[in-house]
Amino acid sequence: MHYWNEIIRSLTDKRDLSDEQLKLLLDSDAADGLLFAQADAVRKRIYGTDVYIRGLIEYTNYCKNNCCYCGIRRDNCNIKRYRLTKEEILSCCKEGCALGYRTFVLQGGEDPFYTDDKICEIVSAVRGLYPDCAITLSLGEKTKESYQAYFDAGANRYLLRHETADAAHYRKLHPEEMSLEIRKRCLFDLKEIGYQVGAGFMVGSPHQTTDCLISDLRFLQELSPDMIGIGPFLRHKDTPFRDHPDGSLALTLRLIAILRLMFPHALIPATTALGTIHPEGREMGLRAGANVVMPNLSPVSVRKLYSLYDNKICTGEESAQCRVCLEQRVKNAGYQIVTDIGNVRR
Ligand code: 5AD
Ligand code: FES
Repeated sequence: MHYWNEIIRSLTDKRDLSDEQLKLLLDSDAADGLLFAQADAVRKRIYGTDVYIRGLIEYTNYCKNNCCYCGIRRDNCNIKRYRLTKEEILSCCKEGCALGYRTFVLQGGEDPFYTDDKICEIVSAVRGLYPDCAITLSLGEKTKESYQAYFDAGANRYLLRHETADAAHYRKLHPEEMSLEIRKRCLFDLKEIGYQVGAGFMVGSPHQTTDCLISDLRFLQELSPDMIGIGPFLRHKDTPFRDHPDGSLALTLRLIAILRLMFPHALIPATTALGTIHPEGREMGLRAGANVVMPNLSPVSVRKLYSLYDNKICTGEESAQCRVCLEQRVKNAGYQIVTDIGNVRR
């Protein structure tokens, strides 16, 4: 007990621990109570009880990549593919704006149909109609020139999870043609251009070890992102990882708390995957240090098709229902949703 106190105190004060101490903390549930309370105290010191909302628009489920964990990988012939038009995307933004969203996240598979020109056209249109909103893109790996073009068109933020910072582990999750080096370069390019950047990883992905997680934390220290998104790995029946066990709720919560203490100012979402692995997963995430929720703004007609993993929540509800549902959930957890854009910089 005494020892855990000391570790958590040291993590809070120095925002860091040795690899050995991190390993102890990650591998034991003994300190969870203390850890979550401390993470919540730090989060309240910096953000009070505020929770930011980001409206997620899943605009295409076509993907040229073949990541072994992901349900929309190109080799999955078992799903119907869809693309939203610019008009459909704008109508999601309109609905989102009416519901109080001031950040739109455009997320999709890596879909060559959307050329840089098309993306820029969409971004400019959103920017023109919603000058005070933040536009977040999450479209995967592009060249620095492409990222620059989207930025010039009006995008301000970019989410690209690094997925794992361990090169050997990265190889086991991705096909030959992808590499951790490129992934990392993209993240540094985005930062250089001036985007607010979000990175992150799955917890409990196949072949992940505690050392992989420590590498993830070390990489995040190097990158120093504005947002850090993590969620449990969840299997998808039409992927090579169909028989691997789901990630652990407890370890995901423990990592959220560690991230809050290592990166006190970070935006940390209580993710959809967390809400999928447990009916109150997102509430638990908020209580362990998370301060963002990202409800779905996609048209209900396509929601089931954006199936990264099995049993994803919120695929039958209208955007307005998710908004009300989340308001209540956030309140039940002891926090409240704020609708300003939360443009926090260190
Ligand atoms: N389980 C959990 N998360 C997943 N993602 C993709 N597939 C899965 C899965 N099977 C996550 C990845 C990606 C984000 C959009 O969703 O981390 O970056
Ligand atoms: Fe979508 Fe609760 S957030 S139904």
